[in-house]
Amino acid sequence: MSDTSEIGIGLLGMGVVGSEVARNLLLKADRLAQQVGRPLRLRGILVRDKSRRRDPAVPPALLTTDPEDLVARQDVHVVVEVMGGLRPAYDLIRSALSQDKHVVTANKEVMATHGPELVRLAEEQEVSLLYEASVGGGIPLIGPLHKDLLANEVSSLHAIINGTTNYILTRMSQEGASFQTALRQAQELGYAEANPANDVEGADAAYKLAILASLAFHSQVTGAQVYREGIARLSAVDFRYAQELGYAIKLLAIARREDTALSLRVHPCLVPEEHLLAKVDGVFNAIEVEGDLVGKVVFHGQGAGAKPTASAILGDILEVACNIASGRKPAHTGNLKDGLSILPIEELVTQYYLRVTVSDSAGVLAKIATVLGDLGISIASVIQKAADAASQTAELVIMTHPAKEAYVRQAVQQMKALDVVREVGNVIRVEQQA
Ligand SMILES: NC(=O)c1ccc[n+]([C@@H]2O[C@H](COP(=O)([O-])OP(=O)(O)OC[C@H]3O[C@@H](n4cnc5c(N)ncnc54)[C@H](OP(=O)(O)O)[C@@H]3O)[C@@H](O)[C@H]2O)c1
Repeated sequence: MSDTSEIGIGLLGMGVVGSEVARNLLLKADRLAQQVGRPLRLRGILVRDKSRRRDPAVPPALLTTDPEDLVARQDVHVVVEVMGGLRPAYDLIRSALSQDKHVVTANKEVMATHGPELVRLAEEQEVSLLYEASVGGGIPLIGPLHKDLLANEVSSLHAIINGTTNYILTRMSQEGASFQTALRQAQELGYAEANPANDVEGADAAYKLAILASLAFHSQVTGAQVYREGIARLSAVDFRYAQELGYAIKLLAIARREDTALSLRVHPCLVPEEHLLAKVDGVFNAIEVEGDLVGKVVFHGQGAGAKPTASAILGDILEVACNIASGRKPAHTGNLKDGLSILPIEELVTQYYLRVTVSDSAGVLAKIATVLGDLGISIASVIQKAADAASQTAELVIMTHPAKEAYVRQAVQQMKALDVVREVGNVIRVEQQA
């Protein structure tokens, strides 16, 4: 006779995402049971504050403030971690795996910092550790990289994987808004947190890139190894000049294989207007993967929000539950044996956009061209913007041909020392091949 006993779920966290997961587990219980062949039962939900008002669909009796007790319960087979933050989430995931519980998590910080170690532990314990919701919210990415694209030699990933910054950049581009104004709008709409540092400084995107790159390139990558620059230095004038030159400005997360090394970076980029990623606006995410067999594929959708994220988490829960119901062992394809090294940012070769404020006098361009030329950086184009009579300055927008980052940094230092240069307003990398 087949086993019809319940599969118990312990939910760690009932905030934006956890509430939606709990609602669906409770309200769609019959449908989920049909899909799995056994009922799924929510055994308990960890929160910090039991007295807070919660979704009325969720019985208060399910709430607990004791994480270890919930994880250790005999009738909990799957632990779903949606509390966020590194600790205690990491310790609880470890504890659950060590007690032979399957784990589903949405936690990019934990997976980008301790992912390989936790995956190894899950393998040893012969349980599942699934984390589809940790990158790109509802967009399927981890699954396709694990399975559907596994036969490919991936050469690059180009991604817009932070909705908050993409929303801010869209406002700056479409309305000429300043960074501060666009950030305030994002905060008013709930797209940016009161402390937006993690998003606007690129840390969130770096975590997500580390998770994707580990899978795509079969190498152990942590968030700390990703070079990153945020978006706070961008000004409205950069968007105007970029548009005149035929580019959008996007915060891209890029991973590219360069022989036996990986280039990993998150920073603002000029992207040709006709490219798909240049057209991804607002809080949407898009991830382009290039593989030797599949060519370029682009995944696009809602990278955050309660429902899209719950969609990914519930998908993982169903996968685990179906495995339990059928007695299948979890499939582990997380081979991280390629061991690619990380290329220092100084070794990067790409094109650059330089915005330089100079004194409005003869011979200025020659002096700048000499600095660049002496370092082997050739100029693709220069536009001189209108001079400001009051300050007797003009603005030069220089596009270089591909050049090495180390030399561009030297050139910027040397330019700053020139008597004719008032300010190097911005340096932005150009990504032609996205
Ligand atoms: N929000 C999104 O759109 C989104 C998208 C993709 C991935 N994620 C990831 O999903 C996870 C959850 O995000 P969220 O937006 O749902 O967070 P959230 O709204 O802040 O909810 C966190 C929940 O965890 C509980 N919690 C946190 N620390 C706790 C502790 N030490 N002890 C007990 N309970 C604790 C909180 O309890 P109280 O309710 O009592 O405060 C709350 O219920 C994060 O890893 C996040 O990165 C979120």
